[in-house]
Amino acid sequence: MKILLTGGAGYIGSHVAAALVSSGHDIVCFDNLSNSEAGVMDRLEAITGTPIPLVKGDIRDRDALDKVFGDHAVEAVIHFAGLKAVGESVAQPMRYYDNNVRGTLTLLEAMSDCDVKTLVFSSSATVYGSPSYLPIDEEHPTSATNPYGRTKLMIEEMLADVAASDPEWRIATLRYFNPVGAHDSGLIGENPNGVPNNLMPYISRVAAGRLNELSVFGGDYPTPDGTGVRDYIHVLDLADGHVAALDAIAKTERPLSTWNLGTGQGYSVLDMVKAFERVNGVRVPYRIAPRRDGDIASCFASPERAERELGWKASRGLDAMCASSWSFEHMLAKRNTD
Ligand code: NAD
Ligand code: UD1
Repeated sequence: MKILLTGGAGYIGSHVAAALVSSGHDIVCFDNLSNSEAGVMDRLEAITGTPIPLVKGDIRDRDALDKVFGDHAVEAVIHFAGLKAVGESVAQPMRYYDNNVRGTLTLLEAMSDCDVKTLVFSSSATVYGSPSYLPIDEEHPTSATNPYGRTKLMIEEMLADVAASDPEWRIATLRYFNPVGAHDSGLIGENPNGVPNNLMPYISRVAAGRLNELSVFGGDYPTPDGTGVRDYIHVLDLADGHVAALDAIAKTERPLSTWNLGTGQGYSVLDMVKAFERVNGVRVPYRIAPRRDGDIASCFASPERAERELGWKASRGLDAMCASSWSFEHMLAKRNTD
């Protein structure tokens, strides 16, 4: 299949790009490079042995989308493009609604007009809000506690209406839990601008001496060691989940499907710190700090529906997540000194 990846130069998009090429798909990436760099495409070529076209453009730009659909015989879209920082979304809500919601609407209009009606959308476990039970299955009620989460919910609602309006649509909403880790090659991974908000990139930078110590947000949660518990999923497992979802919606009669992509296993912040130290033989100094606003105690998936309907199950454990994050950190350090 020929697949368009919006946000294809980003962290998750680039790993999915590599997985799709190795499954025999033909792809084109479309990205405004607001949170990524074009150099990723060279590294993807080194990984896959195939040059992958990158079109620099914005999903809010209808002309740019029409051109990419006109130039390439796109059959399906995987839609990663979006802004994703919770704190920033609280400070700049209009920017988030414009980029994420308006951007998605423009993409859907462009797809509909050229009769491309197969779509995989990057949603998030954030749409479950504060969990009322664990593990979280897809029937869990949804809610949002910040503008970023609300953009994901609004887009999910928009997709449900679109799917209900025309039975030709085949839409998969993938609710990611906590993606971490990097490609085995060490060539691509997560490299946020500025000080990382998320746990794993923060741990890597502390271990590398680029940051002094990790602040563990909260040591008094009702969890086994008092620190927050999450469902960390290796980005390569997540990438395989996209390939499986695309295959499934090509065969299903259902216009809309929703799948959790998680492992079903929760680990605490201190579990992550200890695993990172043990696997990589490094020290990660930390101190227990106050809770972060908006954080919840525990969140982990029931991945059963994806296993049953997609035949997909995460297979990589914590050791692989920590080792690959550290290899990628080394690659970044080497790139910076070259
Ligand atoms: P990322 O920032 O690395 O990738 C997003 C890409 O989209 C970037 O390359 C960016 O330049 C591009 N982009 C942003 N706005 C654009 C626009 N208007 N037009 C064109 N390109 C645009 O983020 P990621 O971690 O790869 O996340 C991908 C998707 O998955 C996002 O929608 C995010 O909300 C969702 N998600 C991510 C996580 C996570 O932990 N990383 C968890 C749940 C959901
Ligand atoms: C966060 C977002 C979520 C988003 C996801 C992926 C919030 C409230 N939620 O999820 O909407 O979908 O990222 O981008 O921001 N931690 C520390 N110290 C740190 C960083 C994190 O102790 O420096 C802890 C957190 O308190 C949490 C765990 O590590 O218990 C994971 O945090 P993080 O990686 O930010 O992910 P989430 O909060 O689960």
